Amino acid sequence: MHRPSRTQHSCCQRSLFSMAGVRQLILLLLYCEGMNTGQNQVIIEQLEILTPQYIELLCNLTDIPNNPPYITGYWTKDGQEIENSEETVNRNNEQYILKKTFNILARDLGNYSCIFRENQAQVTFVLDVPVIKDKRDKPVVSYTGDSVVLDCKLKHTPNTWIWYKANNTGKELINVTANPLKYKIFIYGNKTKLTVLNLTEEDSGKYICSAEFDIKPSESYVELKVLSYTEPLKPFIAIVVEVIVLVTLILLWEKCNKPQNDNISAGENEPCSEQISKLTRDESNGVEKNTARQRKLEH
Ligand SMILES: *[C@@H]1O[C@H](CO)[C@@H](O)[C@H](O)[C@H]1NC(C)=O
Ligand SMILES: *[C@@H]1O[C@H](CO)[C@@H](O)[C@H](O)[C@H]1NC(C)=O
Ligand SMILES: *[C@@H]1O[C@H](CO)[C@@H](O)[C@H](O)[C@H]1NC(C)=O
Ligand SMILES: *[C@@H]1O[C@H](CO)[C@@H](O)[C@H](O)[C@H]1NC(C)=O
Ligand SMILES: *[C@@H]1O[C@H](CO)[C@@H](O)[C@H](O)[C@H]1NC(C)=O
Ligand SMILES: *[C@@H]1O[C@H](CO)[C@@H](O)[C@H](O)[C@H]1NC(C)=O
Repeated sequence: MHRPSRTQHSCCQRSLFSMAGVRQLILLLLYCEGMNTGQNQVIIEQLEILTPQYIELLCNLTDIPNNPPYITGYWTKDGQEIENSEETVNRNNEQYILKKTFNILARDLGNYSCIFRENQAQVTFVLDVPVIKDKRDKPVVSYTGDSVVLDCKLKHTPNTWIWYKANNTGKELINVTANPLKYKIFIYGNKTKLTVLNLTEEDSGKYICSAEFDIKPSESYVELKVLSYTEPLKPFIAIVVEVIVLVTLILLWEKCNKPQNDNISAGENEPCSEQISKLTRDESNGVEKNTARQRKLEH
């Protein structure tokens, strides 16, 4: 009774310890945030782009210490400085405004940041097609002969949805629309469903849903795993086989011992005492005991 209570105690101590660690971390974060404010501020702004277009990005810097008459700023895309983007920004009502217009085609999507030489503050604009967020980390499981429904959804309604199956061997995608006996596709605006009929184990794999926007498609995937009905029975079958083997062994053992027993008597406990005596005999000088027993049985 003493041991469990002791482990419990040490458990409590340990969790207190980790709580203290967490609090320290939070304090540290607050401290870091306090340091960053105004000086090292990083703002991230997500922009969802559906069509190719011109976009004006603007950074508005205020509250700069010393209020210099001008500062210099430039732009980066995905961390690389954009050539000839450096500009001198004059103070205007205590504000410094850096702005630039970008022509955004599919290959221009990415992260744009404005950066000031005299100040660590920066804004990053993440330009991307709407991202399908409902990513599942576990595969959808179904069984041979059944059908299964896979789905994808998005906040924005794309021009259309397309489903592909990734070929397990190569990198090519199979357009599932071409096989309407096997696949049924339903589209409800910002949602789509793919029904895969008459499942076989070959239907396992990656299914890709693609929301087609003017600028470029946004893709996600669903992993499907098709099991045969015997699959979940396997552990059960293993147990049954084990039981059969054990029972067979026991029966064999009994059968091998039976002739002696029949000769001796009809006593129920005989096999057990027989074995015990064998053990004692093997161990040491149990010879006497054995002969004694033999005599006892004979009368
Ligand atoms: C810049 O920020 C200041 C303070 O937040 C605001 O008053 C001003 O309107 C902003 N200017 C622009 C062009 O957005
Ligand atoms: C853009 O920024 C986001 C969020 O900070 C990040 O997840 C993504 O990897 C970045 N993309 C590129 C191309 O750097
Ligand atoms: C899809 O559109 C409907 C109506 O337009 C909306 O209510 C729903 O929230 C949208 N779905 C997602 C995942 O945003
Ligand atoms: C996958 O691709 C290989 C060749 O790249 C082809 O032989 C095979 O039939 C394809 N599998 C399916 C299921 O289409
Ligand atoms: C997929 O196949 C269907 C039917 O064969 C066809 O109409 C459609 O254009 C194809 N889609 C793509 C993206 O290849
Ligand atoms: C799928 O199974 C149904 C009956 O379960 C059958 O009528 C249909 O022809 C099968 N389809 C294919 C493509 O094998």
